[in-house]
Parts: sequence; structure tokens; C-alpha cells
Amino acid sequence: MYLGIDLGTSGVKALLIDGEQRIIGSATGACDVLRQHPGWSEQDPADWVRATQEAIAGLKASHPTELAAVRGIGLSGHMHGATLLDESDSVLRPCILWNDTRSHAEAAALDADPQFRAITGNIVFPGFTAPKLAWVAKNEPDVFAKVRWVLLPKDYLRLWLTGEHMSEMSDSAGTSWLDTGKRAWSESLLAATGLSERQMPSLVEGTAPAGTLKSDLAAGWGMGAGVVVAGGAGDNAASACGMGTIGEGQAFVSLGTSGVLFAANARYLPNPESAVHAFCHALPDTWHQMGVILSATDALNWHAGVTGRSASELTQELGDTLQAPTGVTFLPYLSGERTPHNDATIRGAFIGLGHESGRAVLTQAVLEGVSFAIRDSLEALKIAGTQLHRMTAIGGGSRSAYWLSSIATALDLPVDVPADGDFGAAFGAARLGLVAATGADPLSVFTPPKTAHTVEPVASLREAYEDAYQRYGRLYPAIRAAY
Ligand code: XUL
Repeated sequence: MYLGIDLGTSGVKALLIDGEQRIIGSATGACDVLRQHPGWSEQDPADWVRATQEAIAGLKASHPTELAAVRGIGLSGHMHGATLLDESDSVLRPCILWNDTRSHAEAAALDADPQFRAITGNIVFPGFTAPKLAWVAKNEPDVFAKVRWVLLPKDYLRLWLTGEHMSEMSDSAGTSWLDTGKRAWSESLLAATGLSERQMPSLVEGTAPAGTLKSDLAAGWGMGAGVVVAGGAGDNAASACGMGTIGEGQAFVSLGTSGVLFAANARYLPNPESAVHAFCHALPDTWHQMGVILSATDALNWHAGVTGRSASELTQELGDTLQAPTGVTFLPYLSGERTPHNDATIRGAFIGLGHESGRAVLTQAVLEGVSFAIRDSLEALKIAGTQLHRMTAIGGGSRSAYWLSSIATALDLPVDVPADGDFGAAFGAARLGLVAATGADPLSVFTPPKTAHTVEPVASLREAYEDAYQRYGRLYPAIRAAY
């Protein structure tokens, strides 16, 4: 048995698979996001530990025998978060998350230093880890002075599970401190933020062992000695391992809190100017590109909060048949945007409202706005040298048939829907645990799921969608100029 633990923004999911990669069971524990100021987004690492304990307790209650048979654990987590620890591994302040944009001035300053783009292959986005440390150095110098370790969120869970300060390539590529082509920390980029390699965890590949489960935790969960914890992956690379998105030309669209258009690459293909992310994949000698939008289901959840309906009630109100855009446009920039604008201070908008614009019209505009933002990522990937021919859909938002049809039509690409199953980051993490514990060939483990059905672009709406996308594209510069 192998256990995948995915630390998501809204909670932890623990998922058990057997040696044949059949899903045996899963359980979750919820986490909250603290938003003390506009643009801020934090979590208390103690909450991650509590939620993980909760999720594993759930599995212990439902599958005690299978949980006891676990030989390998894989970790996945939301990327870029700065978890700061002192000499005794105590947490110095709440973790600043991937969608926190307070450090946009620091990010712009680091990004202006040409070595960052040259070595990391990426823009220094405000959500990445290095500018957060620059913000802490400026605003909380006492905290900065005590920083002994900087860990990514899932690597803090590893520390709790194993006692090791270790990370792997895919998540570390999102710090702005990794030499992405060489798959090693860059001493000069760390020095540019007042840090050194001594403060960073040691690096392995995601498929390699990176610690052994502590005996007290193993005993509490009924497991034996010697349970291997894999390097694991950032949540997007972990999802790619779950979906078998590892070879050139394979791609997925993820509709989670964030929205991601992910393409696997056999080579390192940086193109920072397009605001595409070029990161290491979780397997050796493999890289990937992705466009990232900061609010996907987060935009729908915001609309749900405002209207007092659940997200699924709102999407059900639309039915399953795609409608032509109504003329109301939504820009999903609730936390600013990464691809393609790299703009932390832009905010969202509804444009084109009339007396007739009821709740369903607004819901339709929200789903279309996210689809158009993902189309922007597709255009950015094209500029970065990647052509997609189809993609697979994952994430909570992919349960809406309407949304998938909207994405297929906005991108003019077929969207494959995997056969029933749970092929996301927790499944990918469990696969990484299996590979690390058994030494199995990752290529034979990270296979794609069967496709249940394919959502084709709606040909009769292609033109209306293209017009609406062009209008959407004109609104960002207009709103930017107005503010
Ligand atoms: C990727 C990114 C998000 C987070 C949260 O760059 O910031 O996708 O990993 O899921």
C-alpha cells in the first residue's frame, strides 16, 4: 500500500492505493486561509499538521488494515509558500501563500536583476518565495534575522513526518532560487535575497526517497518501521504524475482554487517574457511549462459567497448546454494575475451589466471569464514554443459539464474527461511514494487514466466565443489604464 498526502489550499487529502495502483480509500481534513489585508493570504503550518492528522485518522477509521500495510508515502502541496523556521525548527510566522501578492514591489526589484530570469527561467512573480523573504527582511527584520530554514509547505509536512529538511526539484523551481536547467540551488540568487544554501533544504528528485516516517507516527497509524517518504512534488507536477502528463505534447487543464494549463516538456524551455512558468518536473531529466491564473474555482466561490448560493447550485442553474456569451464580461483578477499579465494590483470586474443581467448571466460570465483567462495561458504557451492538440481536465471545477464545454470552445481544443477516479495531486503523490519505495520505473507507473468521454468545442459558438474573447482581451489594458 502507498499513501499520497496532498496539502491543498482548502485542505489536506490523504489517499491510499495498492501495488496495482487501485484507489483503496481517501479522507480529508479542512484548512482555512487567513486574509488579514487585501492581497494577503496566509496559513498556520500547525493547521496543516492538524488537517493531515485528521485525514489520516479518517483513513485509519475506514481502512485500518490497508493503512497499516503502507510502505511508501508521497507528498504534494500548494507551491511557493514561505514557511520560516528558527534554529529549533519552530515556525517564526504564518506561512505566506502562493496567492499572496503583498511582495509585488520586492518581486519587481528582484525581477529587474537580470540573473533571476537568466538562472531560473521565470519571472520573479510576487507569489514566488524569494520576494516574500525580501518582504520579511524589510518589514519583519527580527523574524528574518532568526530564519534558519526556508521550507515549502509540503516540505514542512515532511519535516514533521520524518525530521528531515529536504525538498525536490518541481516545487523548488517555484522559489526563484533554483537553477532550473541544472536542478540545483543558485548560491548567487540566494545571496541576492540575503540568504545562503545553508538555509535551504537539500534536494532530491521527486521520485527518490527523502526520509523515513518517524517511529512514533508510524506506531500511531499502525504502520511498521522503514516507511519511505518520497521527494514528492509541487501540486501541479504531482497532478501531472497522477494524470500521466509526463511526455512531450501531453497537457492538462486544472480547475482548482487556481487555474493551470500544464504541458510536459522533454527539455528545459524557458520563456519568461510570455509569463509562462518553466519548472522542473517531478521525474529526472524532465521539465514542464504552465500558465497559471490565480482565481479559477476561487472566482466561482467568490460569486457563490456574494449570491448566497453554493457553487454547484450556480452551475446547475446554467444547465449543461453551452450558451453564447451574453455581452456581460467578467475579469477573474480577484487576487491580481500571473499569466499573462504579471500584475499583482489589478482587480476583477463585471462589465456590460444591464437590468436583465440576473444571477445566471453573472454565473455564465464568471465561467467564461475563467475560460478566457485560460485561453490567455494557451496563447502564452504558444509564444513559449508549445503547441497543444488536446488536454485532460482535472480539479473541482471540471465537474461542471458547462464549464468544460466553455473551456473547449474558448481554447478550440478537445478536453478529455478521465474515467471515474481520482487522478489529481494526491493520487500522483501516492504514485511517487510507490516509485520511491519500490524503485519501479516511473514511466511504467505514471500512465494516463482511461478517457470516459471527450468534450469537443461547440462549432456553432466558435465565432461568438472568439468575439467575446477579443472583447475580454481589450478590457485588461482599459481597466489597468483607468486605475
Ligand atoms: C502554481 C501555483 C498554484 C499553487 C496552488 O504556480 O501557484 O497552482 O500551486 O495550487
